[in-house]
Amino acid sequence: MLAEEFARLPHISSPREHAAVVMEIAAGVKREDIVLEPHEKLDSDAASRLELVLEQARRGKPLAYALGEWYFAGRRFFVSESVLIPRPDTETLCSVALQFCRSRPGALRILEVGVGCGAISITLERELSGRQVSLVATDISQEALAVATANAARHGAQLELHEGSLLEPLPPDSRFDLIFSNPPYVAEKDEVDESVRRYEPARAYRVPAGQPGTYFHRCLAKNAGAYINPSGMLALEVGYNQADEVKELLGGSGFEGVSITPDLAGVQRVVSAIWAG
Ligand SMILES: C[S@@+](CC[C@H](N)C(=O)[O-])C[C@H]1O[C@@H](n2cnc3c(N)ncnc32)[C@H](O)[C@@H]1O
Repeated sequence: MLAEEFARLPHISSPREHAAVVMEIAAGVKREDIVLEPHEKLDSDAASRLELVLEQARRGKPLAYALGEWYFAGRRFFVSESVLIPRPDTETLCSVALQFCRSRPGALRILEVGVGCGAISITLERELSGRQVSLVATDISQEALAVATANAARHGAQLELHEGSLLEPLPPDSRFDLIFSNPPYVAEKDEVDESVRRYEPARAYRVPAGQPGTYFHRCLAKNAGAYINPSGMLALEVGYNQADEVKELLGGSGFEGVSITPDLAGVQRVVSAIWAG
């Protein structure tokens, strides 16, 4: 069985869950059918697609890259080796952003810095359907922006994309009700899992050489306020040991009501604060 084979591969964290995802994406077999009709034979196309994915997984390739797609918050998104694979931890950033948007009446202007494959922004846009929302995003990687464009089209989401560093590509008079980011936060000296090191783009998770892991949080704490409407929010994903430092950074940069939200594993994952204006 697929799940048993995946259990032997160290880079696959949730063998049963991921076996179901692979069956669905590579072989077109829905989860409920795996349970109800476990002995159904796959047609030969589905079986060879499945074999191809398995072969790559055995060589250590993350399933998301082998499939070219992955789930985030219940929706499927294209991924390529130019983008970080969206992580379940990041659903916390998405729900902090969504909660803020739901509490703020009227039209919303939202900015994501470092959009990657677009999973968070597109999820927000879809979840806020019926609201007047204008979503803008930046990324330094042209290849990532191409993946985000494909995902926006796939989900019928309106996303205005700009190539460039952090806030630099934005016109200086741009203002947003919410700015959020899951920026790179691994310092040069810090180790990452082998499969991350071999396959995921370093520019998507590492800060520039010689900088601390909170380098991008510092840049955004210092500069994002100028782009936020009064009482708007800045929400940042952080590494497992960075929340207190980022909380202080925001508190010392003109933000109020700084709060820390844990992810589902209980790790302090998102630091958010309101721009005093
Ligand atoms: C950790 S990934 C997050 C991707 C996606 N938002 C997610 O949460 O799954 C960080 C993203 O920031 C982008 N990035 C790196 N340096 C950047 C910079 N200076 N300005 C804008 N984006 C940058 C990377 O290309 C990458 O797509």
